[in-house]
Amino acid sequence: TAARGEQGDLAGVRVVVSAGGTREPLDPVRFVGNRSSGRQGVALAAEAARRGADVTLVAANTDPGLTEGLAVRIVRVGSAQELASAMHAEAPEADVLVMTAAVADYRPAEVLESKLKKEQQGDRMTLELVKNPDVLAELVAARRVGQVVVGFAAETEPDREARLELGRAKIARKPADLLVVNHVGWSHGFEREENAIEVLVPGGEVVRETSGTKAEVATAVLDLVATALP
Ligand code: CTP
Ligand code: CA
Repeated sequence: TAARGEQGDLAGVRVVVSAGGTREPLDPVRFVGNRSSGRQGVALAAEAARRGADVTLVAANTDPGLTEGLAVRIVRVGSAQELASAMHAEAPEADVLVMTAAVADYRPAEVLESKLKKEQQGDRMTLELVKNPDVLAELVAARRVGQVVVGFAAETEPDREARLELGRAKIARKPADLLVVNHVGWSHGFEREENAIEVLVPGGEVVRETSGTKAEVATAVLDLVATALP
């Protein structure tokens, strides 16, 4: 592939990466969250910057320390709705959008003004949740000509073929240019340096498969992004 400039193959390319996991407030002291640390998203942002891109990281509760010394613009968000607003604000000016963040599918239907008290509940309590917007689906629907949109799919399915089928269904539902299928589980994917991925395109074909450090995975994903850019 042709080099775009002296600093790297992504010189001047505007890349927006979401990372981490959203937290959906329940009351002033509690939230519904997930285990995403933001490591893979931060690795993507760092690698894109190294290759000359103009990078914005939309960081949802990323582990403290991960973004220390990271020389990119950082927009911090908490909830899925905040992440959605930030991504929609950045998208019109972006050449590449990467949705690495683990966005909560649901949020508490009501956010309480004061702390929920257990005396008001029985021995069992039910929390009502409502669906969050699907940011990736919205970004894909609003995609400009030439803009490259990358989704991630977190799947716990240990069998490769079964995992790919879930990934294929996902990219069929929201046709991003690339879908990075990520194997996650109690002991896979989270809070560690190693990651295993398969990358799908809208037809369902596997265009890349690799495992290694999150930095190595970032390199593989950005190689595909560079090829997909106009
Ligand atoms: N995503 C998003 N907004 C949501 C949920 C997910 O933008 N409300 C994005 C994620 O950032 C990721 C992709 O969609 O890039 C797939 O997320 P994932 O949770 O794997 O899939 P879902 O489509 O949410 O389906 P499910 O959780 O049921 O597997
Ligand atoms: Ca989900």
